[in-house]
Parts: sequence; structure tokens; C-alpha cells
Amino acid sequence: MTENPFFKRVYNSHTPEEIMAVYDDWADEYDETVLAHGYVTPKRCADALASLEDDRSARLLDIGCGTGISGMALRSAGFTTIDGSEVNARMLEKARSRQGIYSAMHLVSLDNPFDFAIGTYRHMTAMGVIATGHAPASTIRAILAKLEAGGLLVFSLNDHTLEFAEYPDTVDAVVAENIAELAFDEYGDHMPMIGLNSRIIALRKI
Ligand SMILES: C[S@@+](CC[C@H](N)C(=O)[O-])C[C@H]1O[C@@H](n2cnc3c(N)ncnc32)[C@H](O)[C@@H]1O
Repeated sequence: MTENPFFKRVYNSHTPEEIMAVYDDWADEYDETVLAHGYVTPKRCADALASLEDDRSARLLDIGCGTGISGMALRSAGFTTIDGSEVNARMLEKARSRQGIYSAMHLVSLDNPFDFAIGTYRHMTAMGVIATGHAPASTIRAILAKLEAGGLLVFSLNDHTLEFAEYPDTVDAVVAENIAELAFDEYGDHMPMIGLNSRIIALRKI
């Protein structure tokens, strides 16, 4: 399968301005292109969370919710109480057009994306968001700081991102520092049509 040109653009974007421009242009076609490439990471993240949390009404925040594909996966896994947050207005506009997925949707700034009290959300997800050119590795610590003990951060690191040591190293560091424990860690399909894999990680706040 030929890789869609948006993938090349997204993986070659290095500044917030560049990445914002890509998603501005991509928003209308995003669902079609990622689903055509077999994008399975949202289902894998949602299944990981469902395997670790029995309470399907636990309040969740889907960080970088994009057009809502990740929220749909959480809904399909049975979760009922999901907010979405997103830095790109065009992507969020698409999520808003989906009914019955999110309880609330928040357009947030890159400077202060987690502007809520600790424990507002029981668990948080970031599917396809903590990635090279996207949210930096420091985001892992910033999210964990907003969870109460027992809360989970479930996120993906794709193959491109795993090449940058700061991402897996941050996972190792927060575990070594007893900030969180590794509750789930699985390497598998991300976009199988183009042979791209991802690591799905769940960190439980200590
Ligand atoms: C690959 S999409 C994933 C969207 C959705 N979670 C999904 O699985 O379809 C990545 C999303 O991350 C957002 N994003 C880009 N840079 C970001 C940053 N620095 N912090 C948070 N989100 C960012 C983009 O606007 C985009 O909607």
C-alpha cells in the first residue's frame, strides 16, 4: 500500500507550528486515511485500559482526542464518561460532529494543556499523541502529576517515536523514581497496512 502523503508530512514536522498546519489540512481526510491504513492503536489502548479498570463509568480524559476515533474505541470498550481535549481546532470540530462519544470537549493551549485539578480524571489516555513532532516526552510526567494514586495513563509510542530515546527513557525513569508502576506494556500493530508498530503502555500512579 502506498503511504498517504500526510504521513510523510506528519513524520517530517518538527515544530508545533508545522504540526498544527498538517492537522489543519488533514482534518477532513484524517479518519479515512488512518482507517485505510488499519490504525489499530486506539482499540489496543482501550482494551488495555479495560483490562485494568472494571468500573466502566470511571471518569476519563482522552488527551489529543483528534477527530474522536480514540473516544470511539473507549466507548466500544464500554467506557461511558469520557472528556476529550485537543490542541487543534479543526480536528476538534470533527470530534464535535460525532454524537454520543464525549461528555465534554476542550480546546486547550500547547502552553497549558492540563489546566485542571489533580484527580479531576480517574484515568487519562493519549493515543497517537506522545510522539516525535507532537507532544514531547515530558508530557508523560505532566500527565502523571495530574493523576491521583491508582490512576492510569494509557498511551502509545509508535516506531518512529521509539527511535528517540527520551520517550522510552522517560517511562523507565518514572518507574525507577517510584512515580508510577508499569501496569501494561505490549508491542504490536499500529498501522499494519504500512508495517508500522507501536508500544502500548499503561502507567499506574503510585
Ligand atoms: C495522530 S493524532 C491522534 C488523534 C486521536 N487520539 C486518534 O487516535 O485518532 C495526534 C493528535 O495530537 C495532537 N497534537 C499534536 N501536537 C500535540 C501536542 N504537542 N500536545 C498535545 N496534542 C498534540 C494533534 O492535534 C492530533 O489531533
